Amino acid sequence: MPPGAATILVVDDEPNIRKTLRMVLESEGWAVLDAGTAEEAEALLQAEPVNVAIFDIKLPGTDGLTLLSRARELWRDLPVIVISGHADAPEIGDAMKRGAYGFLQKPLERERVIVTVRSALEWRQLKDGERTQAAREPRFDDMVGQSPAMRRLREEIAKVAPTRAPVLILGESGTGKELIAEELHRRSKRAAGRFEKVNCAAIPGELIESELFGHEKGSFSGAGARRVGRFELADGGTLFLDEIGDMSLAAQAKVLRALENAEITRVGGEKAFTVDVRVIAATNQDLDGMVRAGTFREDLLHRLKVVPLHAPPLRERLSDLPALVDRFVTLAARRNDLRSKPLEPAVLERLAGYRWPGNVRELRNVCERLLIMSGDRIRVADVPADIGPRAGGTTAGNGAAMGVAAGAAGHGEVALKDLRDLVERDYILKKLEEHDWNVTQAAQALGIERTNLHKKIKQHGLARGRRGGAEDEGQETEP
Ligand SMILES: Nc1ncnc2c1ncn2[C@@H]1O[C@H](COP(=O)(O)OP(=O)(O)OP(=O)(O)O)[C@@H](O)[C@H]1O
Ligand SMILES: [Mg+2]
Repeated sequence: MPPGAATILVVDDEPNIRKTLRMVLESEGWAVLDAGTAEEAEALLQAEPVNVAIFDIKLPGTDGLTLLSRARELWRDLPVIVISGHADAPEIGDAMKRGAYGFLQKPLERERVIVTVRSALEWRQLKDGERTQAAREPRFDDMVGQSPAMRRLREEIAKVAPTRAPVLILGESGTGKELIAEELHRRSKRAAGRFEKVNCAAIPGELIESELFGHEKGSFSGAGARRVGRFELADGGTLFLDEIGDMSLAAQAKVLRALENAEITRVGGEKAFTVDVRVIAATNQDLDGMVRAGTFREDLLHRLKVVPLHAPPLRERLSDLPALVDRFVTLAARRNDLRSKPLEPAVLERLAGYRWPGNVRELRNVCERLLIMSGDRIRVADVPADIGPRAGGTTAGNGAAMGVAAGAAGHGEVALKDLRDLVERDYILKKLEEHDWNVTQAAQALGIERTNLHKKIKQHGLARGRRGGAEDEGQETEP
């Protein structure tokens, strides 16, 4: 909030005081509202955004102290300055106890008024900052990305979120599974209910049942008082079972029962409770493999897999890199009290050539490191040596990107357009391979016309069974 944009409310029954304060405050560029009574003041506060309020302690009708208490209740972040007559010392103490920000004594001194209001405004700004921070922190990264993979994911989230169906989120480490779970909850009809997160990997096997379902007093050694489980806490909301691959078989059996009957029983308890819980689970483990190995229940997997969502690995959505980097550099700046810095385009190029085994989480950490360690700009030379085409292993997924990135490194900076081309080329190739070079199907998956895809295949020199570019034209199979 620029200082000039602040609005100050003055409440005093003496027109002269109102007039004086208005002149003083307006001379500082602040907007002024005034009221002669507490009732009028409250109506103004309801109707207008006010940044700081100044109340006279003595008002006809409802007095200033009562108004102060009301205001503290209704507008908690509104700093209130009280005005008292010279002989009102006890009232000042009372006002401070009721949460007044500061006080002014009559006769009013211009300088003191200005200093007090200015400092109240600063306090208010701090509060606003904290609040935005708090609102942002848990989800300080709403999902970033407009790549085809992310768009598809968002569409799927929008479809499944309002339903009751259990959702299983699959994806490598750091791909944003938790973020997806939160998004599902936020967009569900249960958004007002709780989002209970249980990290199954962090809770010892023998305790997970009691964590999830609660226990009756003394039901096992170490079980003290009765305990309410997470299923009960999530009643009316969402239960997020993170790292579900780490859950014991015994707990799996109980979770299955809870899902099928919408009922739970506390450990050591007899009575079954009905709970209304939507379960979302996530893992980066191969649950099918675990079923074969006998460590994960097949029936539970089927129950959870009604709607599987796949969090795409970062290397399959490299076109999101610029937006993600931008977000993470900005966030890192905010977190470390630094100014954000511009990026040499070649940095993106270099990042696009890396395999990103740790996915978005790894990218976030790299961005923070880049911001902190670089000079006035983030340059390619600042990128750690282990973030590059030869590092992080190779995959078919970014083979082409690697080729271009490695080639480009020798030529210095690479334009954003080249990065876009490279990402596009890689993605088209991936889709073609997924559809066994059936151009019609691949075009559909890409959401473009078949003729357009033909053009792009030619333009990028794509050919079947070749990743590094081709001189001749593709020999794609036609349906
Ligand atoms: N699409 C995205 N946009 C912005 N930030 C993201 C995105 N995906 C992931 N992140 C960020 O990356 C980090 C890792 O995400 P998250 O914890 O959700 O991953 P995960 O898949 O649960 O990983 P793990 O399997 O290791 O638990 C978080 O800081 C998250 O905010
Ligand atoms: Mg996670």
